[in-house]
Amino acid sequence: MVTLKDYTTDEMYLIWETTADLKRRQKRGESLDLLKNKVLAMFFEIPSTRTSVSFETAMAKLGGHAIYLAPGRTWIGIEESWADAMKVIGRYADAIVARLMEHSLLVNIADWVDIPVINGSDDWEHPCQALTDFYTVFERKRRLEGLKYTICWGWRHSNAPIGLVHSSLYVASRMGVDFVIACPEGYDPDKEVLEFAKCEAEKSGGSIEIVRSIEEAVDGADVINIYSWTPPEIFRKGIETYRAGKGFTAPAPHLEKPDEYKKWKVTVDHVKMAKKSAITMHCMPVARGEECEDEVVDGPWSVMFDEAENRLHVQKAILALLIGGYTP
Ligand code: CP
Repeated sequence: MVTLKDYTTDEMYLIWETTADLKRRQKRGESLDLLKNKVLAMFFEIPSTRTSVSFETAMAKLGGHAIYLAPGRTWIGIEESWADAMKVIGRYADAIVARLMEHSLLVNIADWVDIPVINGSDDWEHPCQALTDFYTVFERKRRLEGLKYTICWGWRHSNAPIGLVHSSLYVASRMGVDFVIACPEGYDPDKEVLEFAKCEAEKSGGSIEIVRSIEEAVDGADVINIYSWTPPEIFRKGIETYRAGKGFTAPAPHLEKPDEYKKWKVTVDHVKMAKKSAITMHCMPVARGEECEDEVVDGPWSVMFDEAENRLHVQKAILALLIGGYTP
């Protein structure tokens, strides 16, 4: 699962049905060993709270084992190429999850090994998060078709990746969702991803739109997903400055002219412009007071902590389907 571009509506629903089943069984206290003797190699070039801990927990809960590999743990990048190391690890492990700076490296890894490779977020996509977000919406609303789902860019002091937006476009476009992206100029998703999603959305009875204000996006919305993102090249520069000990703050329009961009902050007033039943979401970590007001995170409309919990259940489902021989 390097990209969601090729995932069909049925395949996504299969992941969500499996998620619902495994979540229900975990809540009932059932112990399942679907991943007994299975090993997940986890490469994290970039820090993570949810992705790393939820994948490791998913393996443990299903009877398998995860190996967390941070930079410096292996010879990769020091004495050994990614290609050689991956060809070796592909003979040990049953699956790989990788959070990397560049999508192209993930694509290469998937070519070098004969085991499933799962994208744990890169400069282009974040499939597990997008699948989790739409699952969380489905859990609350019992449907996706016809919902107005907006993802609102929020000002943040750093350079977050755009992956969630691209992966969400692939999901929304297959689900008949009216998907509205609110962002300033210069922060649009990739043109090809957008065009592809528009074509798919037309087939599924949904729509894709970009607007230039939070107000326009949230008006009558069912879902307000808040997130800060930067184009891939700015995200990658941010990682370089972070590694040089200068913070995750590479030059970007929103950091060079913050006063022009700080109006991009979701407030309680914005939430009240949406439907009464609207929910607020954020993939976390959330920049409280920057991307949105505290009350947007903590108020009755927020499903952010359910969303974070669901990373575990969705990833258990993905692993069970990919390497656990799970059949619904
Ligand atoms: N949402 C998400 O991917 O969180 P982490 O960066 O903590 O993994």
